[in-house]
Amino acid sequence: MLSMKLSGARWRLVLSTLFISALILELGYCQEDAQDPKTSPGRKPKPAKAKQGKATNKGPRAVTAKAKVIATPATQGKGLLTQVLDKGRFLRVGDTISVQAGDTLELRCKGKPVQWAVPHYLEEDDDGRLRIIQQERYGSLTLVNTTGADTGEYTCYPMYCEDTDCRKEYDKAVKVFIFFPDPQELFVPSSDYYEVIQLRTNWPTILPCQVTSPEAKVTLHREFPPVEVAVDGAEISFDVKRGFTIHRPRHHHAGALYCVASLGNLRQSSTKYMLIYVNYPMAAPAPVIQVSSSTVALGENLQVSCTVIGEQDVVIDFTWEYPGQQIGRPLYTQESVRPVGGGAAREQSQSILLVDEVREVDQGAYTCTAQNLQGSKSASIMVKVITKAKPKKKP
Ligand SMILES: *[C@@H]1O[C@H](CO)[C@@H](O)[C@H](O)[C@H]1NC(C)=O
Repeated sequence: MLSMKLSGARWRLVLSTLFISALILELGYCQEDAQDPKTSPGRKPKPAKAKQGKATNKGPRAVTAKAKVIATPATQGKGLLTQVLDKGRFLRVGDTISVQAGDTLELRCKGKPVQWAVPHYLEEDDDGRLRIIQQERYGSLTLVNTTGADTGEYTCYPMYCEDTDCRKEYDKAVKVFIFFPDPQELFVPSSDYYEVIQLRTNWPTILPCQVTSPEAKVTLHREFPPVEVAVDGAEISFDVKRGFTIHRPRHHHAGALYCVASLGNLRQSSTKYMLIYVNYPMAAPAPVIQVSSSTVALGENLQVSCTVIGEQDVVIDFTWEYPGQQIGRPLYTQESVRPVGGGAAREQSQSILLVDEVREVDQGAYTCTAQNLQGSKSASIMVKVITKAKPKKKP
């Protein structure tokens, strides 16, 4: 009798997907009605800014100077970035600078030509505040009517050109992180009330609660129970340019977190970060394939097993390739998961391919591919089909 069983691993995948979908759905509903003032004290929604804030986490994008590209090699030597201050004064910039929100930012970068990278939303929301001009010996970037949302990394790439073919000289790039301290907004605004972040095992997670002022004191908080999260610099660390980093995420880090910034008598909360823990395996699975008998007689039954020993609660998805596929032999498998003894949190996932009443077409290579969130690996084995009574005659 042939029997088919729904893959256990696949069900678990489906169930976990449903669970995550349900969570996201739930968050969606929360977003609509949760205008909870307690969690965002002093936060004045600014629709115009909110749209800008959304993209600030997407990283910088290149902006090409609108000026014609001059087809001569860039000035050799280190790219030099300066800030143009009032009254024609120049200031060579360091790692970070602060420009009061509302003021004009003007940067100059030596090279002909140069290319600029600015926070993502600035490029997206072209509201005419950003002006990039290529002069004879330098490129200039001017940003007017600045806001806290402009906070981020600004980069100048000197270009190397041959005829009209120019490329960025990455090793000569000059980066500066610019804060735009805003008396109203301690955090770079975000349009999202919630941000869902996956916590992956052994993969650093960043909560990018970007402040607009380097002077702001930033703390991390959990919503339920409402406690301040200890930031010890090892398990969790803070960098004013990146936010909080959870270096080795674990189950207990999951939940709703947010940042609080204080400066003077101002105290504000960031957007909420919904941290969802995903059990990421350390490595792709290593399947072991075995066959009930490498030589099987016509009409007999064959079993090919594919076994993976791996970490607990890591879903393994099995797929098979087998000779009978070509003539449309359906796939019958039995899948199982069971703990492995010996104390360590390991389990055995197995898929057994059942081939009943073997025919000649079933001779050949059987390949099993095992996949988890980290990747996939395959294993193959050859099966020979013979006639039972006497050795098969060659035609
Ligand atoms: C900057 O702000 C001033 C005053 O609000 C306004 O008149 C001007 O048009 C703005 N400039 C740009 C480029 O947005």
